[in-house]
Amino acid sequence: MRDPIDLRSDTVTRPDDAMRRAMAEAPVGDDVYGEDPTAVRLQEELAERTGHEAGLFFPSGTMSNQAAIAALTGRGVEVIVPAGAHVYEYEIGAMSLLSGLTPRPIPAPGGVPTPEAVHDAVHRSPHQAPTGLLVLENTHNKAGGTVVPLERQRALIDAGRAEGLPVHLDGARAFNAAVALGVEIAEVTAGFDTASICLSKGLGAPVGTVLVGRREVLREAHRYRKAFGGGMRQIGGLAAAGLEALRHGPARLAHDHARARALAEGLQDVPGIAIDLASVQSNMVYLGVEDAPDVAADWAAHGVRANALGPRTIRLVTHRHVGDDDVEAATTIVRERMEARTGGAPVAG
Ligand SMILES: Cc1ncc(COP(=O)(O)O)c(C=O)c1O
Repeated sequence: MRDPIDLRSDTVTRPDDAMRRAMAEAPVGDDVYGEDPTAVRLQEELAERTGHEAGLFFPSGTMSNQAAIAALTGRGVEVIVPAGAHVYEYEIGAMSLLSGLTPRPIPAPGGVPTPEAVHDAVHRSPHQAPTGLLVLENTHNKAGGTVVPLERQRALIDAGRAEGLPVHLDGARAFNAAVALGVEIAEVTAGFDTASICLSKGLGAPVGTVLVGRREVLREAHRYRKAFGGGMRQIGGLAAAGLEALRHGPARLAHDHARARALAEGLQDVPGIAIDLASVQSNMVYLGVEDAPDVAADWAAHGVRANALGPRTIRLVTHRHVGDDDVEAATTIVRERMEARTGGAPVAG
């Protein structure tokens, strides 16, 4: 029997031999003292590629986002976020728990709010918590891995600035956005005060996120990184994996996107599955099914691992270990399982 096809997330990849070698051979130093030469190189390289002044290595996207949010605000303020934003839905309420902030989700069809919604969400009364920050997410995970077009992103940044707000990008998959848009990463990260970019998703590193921005903001973020327990020592091995991911990862993301598309098209007429093809814009496919946990367990028992993200939502994500043959095999298995489950009933929803 073949190995299970793991479509739960693009975080499941394992480092290849070249990455492991780079990790083993990396020069290291104590990063709390700013003396790890490989971490310094990674930070500089990503800052340069994104057109920002400086970079700061974090163990996770969550810590990077939360340190940036804390650094750009102050206790007691409200943070505008797009509906479904990772910083709100999937970071354990950290902005409230750690930083005394209130998230304010605003409607974001397809992962993109309107500038009017930003304007309307800003608090102006002395009875309300002052609004202190706008966060955007590109690609937007929960909306389907959707790509925020650059002109709409620019209009949103301008709307935030018009209200005097700093703007943070959760760019966990900013390279996926750049590839989908056919632009350089610097165009996706332009205009933001800070952008958080994960190396451990589609780019293939085992760990690591770099926050880019102005030096003075990163100094604050550095303080929060330490306070949140993220002061690290000889991290050169991890940074070396990040450098490998940065150098070789982006070029292959287009394959992930094409395979997600093929997966979505192959599943669109499968009984019991509802799928919005328009939302498939990068390496993710979101499916509507009845009883998602049970459906995912059934697929897993037959060799396809998927992520049940809600009672009726399943997410499939393509990545480095998913080839064309895996897409074909997964499509066949899912079709067979759904036909068995529904008796070939028409597509739900
Ligand atoms: C959009 C987005 N932001 C942030 C994160 C957090 O990254 P991490 O899992 O490294 O904390 C994720 C994780 O999947 C994500 O999808």
